[in-house]
Amino acid sequence: MEKNIDWGNLGFGYMKTDYRYVSNYKDGKWSSGQITTDDKVVISECACVLQYAQTCFEGLKAYRTKDNKVVCFRPDLNAKRMAESAKRLEMPPFPEDRFLEAVRQVVKANIDWVPPYGSGASLYIRPYMFGSDAIMGVKPANEYQFRIFVSPVGPYFKGGAKPITLRVPDFDRAAPRGTGHVKAGLNYAMSLHAIVDAHNQGYNENMYLDSQTRTKVEETGGANIIFVTKDNEVVTPKSSTILPSITRRSLMYVAEHYLGLKAVEREIYADELQNFKECALCGTAAVLSPVGKIVNHKEEILLPSGMEKFGEVTQKLYDTLTGIQMGRIEAPEGWIFEI
Ligand code: PLP
Ligand code: COI
Repeated sequence: MEKNIDWGNLGFGYMKTDYRYVSNYKDGKWSSGQITTDDKVVISECACVLQYAQTCFEGLKAYRTKDNKVVCFRPDLNAKRMAESAKRLEMPPFPEDRFLEAVRQVVKANIDWVPPYGSGASLYIRPYMFGSDAIMGVKPANEYQFRIFVSPVGPYFKGGAKPITLRVPDFDRAAPRGTGHVKAGLNYAMSLHAIVDAHNQGYNENMYLDSQTRTKVEETGGANIIFVTKDNEVVTPKSSTILPSITRRSLMYVAEHYLGLKAVEREIYADELQNFKECALCGTAAVLSPVGKIVNHKEEILLPSGMEKFGEVTQKLYDTLTGIQMGRIEAPEGWIFEI
């Protein structure tokens, strides 16, 4: 039976649900994996994850559709990206087919926690893995744990469709040839000071620039960025140091194939920000969150779409993407994974 939760008022936070998935890596292989009720992780005080941050994670969601099915959105791409993250961190990738099976198992086990259609909430799915045995010298662990927990969530930014304000920080997120393109926990650890500082100064998020030249727009701490030009072109930063967002790749496809717009991935310079008419953050957690203002030190850029609502194009992108996810609009082949 569906849990008794005030679905419409959920924020983006952790809620302990009934079940999680666990598999352990030892002696060169992953264990068969199981669903458990135990939400506690017990590892060595010297575990590689605790000392040297050897961990990566993923984020995806399960939705209840219009016709009451439970589905995930392109989880095969999360499986693949997690394998890429693991390789970059010298961890053994969790097999992609098993990742999909584990997602299915953990969502099925927690089916009563999947928010109802139309509630505005969804079930966030958090796969993650970490080096679990004791490591003193700087080297990879020998043993790992792969887990998935789930939590019902609402909008990432309070107010949902209310435009937010970004600032260009003096901190960098990712080094050239570093780990910005993978979902390593360390990328988030080093963003914590910048986000606390942004919040203290009244901004919702940081819009990072490329750390090599500090002239090009990259992404925020937890989402990619899209812009709309005055000619209704959808543009997004091309960079080897940002996370390849599955939401952004999907939106670019939607712009081109569903809305008939030109969609371009290219380098975007900070000094062209005043030319755009709309801006939004995109990601699993952020979905599509409109941006109303960008502050780049002394320069304040007010997007013509304003501080009250989505711009016209970003609204259409939002409606189409969420329509596909919730089963109101036909999805491209292979995008919807039924649980
Ligand atoms: N960029 C960063 C740094 C993120 O943490 C995320 C979240 O996963 C994204 C972008 C968006 O990626 P996706 O759309 O695959 O969730
Ligand atoms: C996601 O969108 O899934 C993320 O991981 C972003 C953030 C919560 C870290």
